[in-house]
Order: sequence, then C-alpha cells, then structure tokens
Amino acid sequence: TVYPDQQTASVTVAKRIAELIISKQKNNEPTVLGLATGVTPIKVYAELVRMHRQEGLSFKNVITFNLDEYYPMLPTSAQSYVTFMNENLFNHIDIDKKNIHIADGTLSQPDVAQFCLAYERKITELGGLDLQLLGIGRTGHIGFNEPGSAPNSGTRLVTLDDLTRGDAARDFGGKENVPTKAITMGIGTIFKAREIILMAWNEKKAPIIKKAVEGEISGEVPATYLQLSDNVEFIVDQGAASAL
Ligand code: GLP
Repeated sequence: TVYPDQQTASVTVAKRIAELIISKQKNNEPTVLGLATGVTPIKVYAELVRMHRQEGLSFKNVITFNLDEYYPMLPTSAQSYVTFMNENLFNHIDIDKKNIHIADGTLSQPDVAQFCLAYERKITELGGLDLQLLGIGRTGHIGFNEPGSAPNSGTRLVTLDDLTRGDAARDFGGKENVPTKAITMGIGTIFKAREIILMAWNEKKAPIIKKAVEGEISGEVPATYLQLSDNVEFIVDQGAASAL
C-alpha cells in the first residue's frame, strides 16, 4: 500500500496496532508484538506514545520481542537496541518490564545458541507473534537476516554485511566501531507471525523495495521471501514506491 507520506502511513500502522491491542484486551488475551528498530518505525512508536498519553491506550497486556540486537553490545550503550526501544517507546508507556524481550548482546558466544532457542520457545509458548513490524536494510535484510539467510532460519548469531556496517557507521562514529555480528530472529521466526508489516520510506529505499516486491525470490535478497507469505503487507511512502 502506497501512502502519500511517512507520517500518514505511520499513523495508520499505529492505529492498527492499537486496534489489535484493544481487541485482545476485550478477550483478556495478551498481544504479542514483534518490534523493529532503525529510523523507519520511529513515527509509529511516537504515535503509540501519543495514544497512550492522550487516549489512554494501555500496554499492560502487551508482550514484545525485538527482532535483533548487535553483538557484542551492552544494553546501556547509546547504540544498543535496548536504549533505542527505551527512548522511543518503552520509557513512555505502561508496559510491564518483564514483558519486554530483546536479545542479550552481553552473552558469551557459547551461551548464545541456548539463548536463541529459549527466545524461540518463549514466542511459541505464548502462541506466536500476533504482528511483526519490519523495516528493510539496503542489502534486503529483514531483522539482520543478511543475504544468504535460509528461509527457515531461526533466531541466531549472524555476521553483518559490509554495506549494513557502512550504513550503521554514523551511529557508531565510524565503521570500525560497528560490531561485526548481531543476534537476529530468523526468516522462519518472522514468517510464523500472523501478520507482517514491512515499512519503508524515502527514495533511498526505492531500489531495494523494487527488488523485494518485484524481484526473483532468492536468498540474495532475503526480503523477497516475504512474497511467499499471504500475511504480509508492504506499507511505503511515495518515495519508497517510486521504482515500482
Ligand atoms: C537495521 C535493523 C533493521 C532495520 C534496518 C533499516 O539494520 N537491524 O531491523 O530494518 O536497519 O534501518 P532504517 O529503518 O534505519 O533504515
């Protein structure tokens, strides 16, 4: 779906999330959300915060799982996705801290596999993700599933693509400071969500959106796997849609 601008699109996505939370609340069920980081979802989170403050939207029955985290990464570091989520969403809403799940970038490498299995298990035990939000990287990655990721991949430790590290360089004050690895939910994990919304804004994302939507399905552009799912919607602005 193409929206005139990022703001209109972000408000629409936030409304959908709010409706889901409210309908689940009525049945006394938790809402299990898969959340994304990066610049793309910032306005969605800002709108959810506004709805919490001005319209009383409650996150008491919301359980979240973030897509990914750099590795290694201290949660208190300015570049961690923990800090990003706290600053953009969690610090401003009434979510119960124990309902927040973000991959732990402080684990020793031998402990990571165990952690990843437990992350998957928790999602499954809760009945799966109701909704997964996604951005898209210029390599076509979703989460940190870089080119070469298998369609049935689960949560795991991955090596970041050079282009991805280049794109993150500004946040880290130089590419040499960007971690070489990350923990990410897999393509298979994302696929199990009952609804998937991939968002992209601006002309910078137009080439990769064209490949993701119209290109041949291939591990070279992991987002093309989304063409295989009936539960996916791409929500883009005019700029990101401009090559379609
Ligand atoms: C990062 C994140 C992705 C995100 C992508 C795009 O690499 N791991 O989840 O979708 O970047 O980021 P942005 O939204 O800033 O363009």
